Amino acid sequence: MATVVTAVESVLEARGIEKSYRRGVWPVARRQDVLRGVDLALRPGEVVGLVGENGSGKSTLMKILVGALRPDAGTVAVSGRLGYCPQEPVFYERLTCDEHFELFGRAYKMSAEDERRSRRNLYAALGFERYAGTRADQLSGGTLAKLNLGLALLGDPEVLLLDEPYAGFDWDTYLKFWDLVAGRRQAGRSVLIISHFVTDEGRFDRIVQLRDGRAGPR
Ligand SMILES: Nc1ncnc2c1ncn2[C@@H]1O[C@H](COP(=O)(O)OP(=O)(O)OP(=O)(O)O)[C@@H](O)[C@H]1O
Ligand SMILES: [Mg+2]
Repeated sequence: MATVVTAVESVLEARGIEKSYRRGVWPVARRQDVLRGVDLALRPGEVVGLVGENGSGKSTLMKILVGALRPDAGTVAVSGRLGYCPQEPVFYERLTCDEHFELFGRAYKMSAEDERRSRRNLYAALGFERYAGTRADQLSGGTLAKLNLGLALLGDPEVLLLDEPYAGFDWDTYLKFWDLVAGRRQAGRSVLIISHFVTDEGRFDRIVQLRDGRAGPR
């Protein structure tokens, strides 16, 4: 009789992801294979680090996971809502922090009440409430990074994908960030974080390394 294995369902599963970029123009155009069959799965409540050299394809993979970039081959399956924080913050320069939250809340189809509650919690958790009425083009780099992280978290997504989220954070914010992540884990939410910091290794449940276009354990 076959053994029945009850595996914990993945909240995100990528299989056989391939991506190459075309560089230059004819007659010197050439193809660069960045991802050559990446498999990656995230289980509920897992905090996973994604590491690899500069240019190894971490951001490319994350863009494919969120659907911002189309892979040449492979599939991505996600169950639940996705939050994404890109490596370069994306913002509307004329809108204030509050206005960004309102806009994203509507995009996530949240009620005004839920959005305001979540926004208040995020201001408190990351400590940037005093910039609520400041236009994005007048924010410091670190505060802009907080806004981007806050927007990714606003809708309490099952899967949170963060591309080097704390590069510009001061020490206090860095610690607050990890408190937030611990809270996500406890709530059974999953987080995938691109990181270069060897000192963070102990904070992850698991580390996945991209090397030669493939993902493997570190
Ligand atoms: N739009 C693009 N067109 C052409 N080549 C690209 C494009 N985006 C990325 N690349 C190339 O693909 C490779 C992987 O880039 P990617 O940004 O995914 O790396 P990364 O691992 O995130 O690096 P880093 O640690 O520097 O952020 C690099 O060699 C990069 O030059
Ligand atoms: Mg990158």
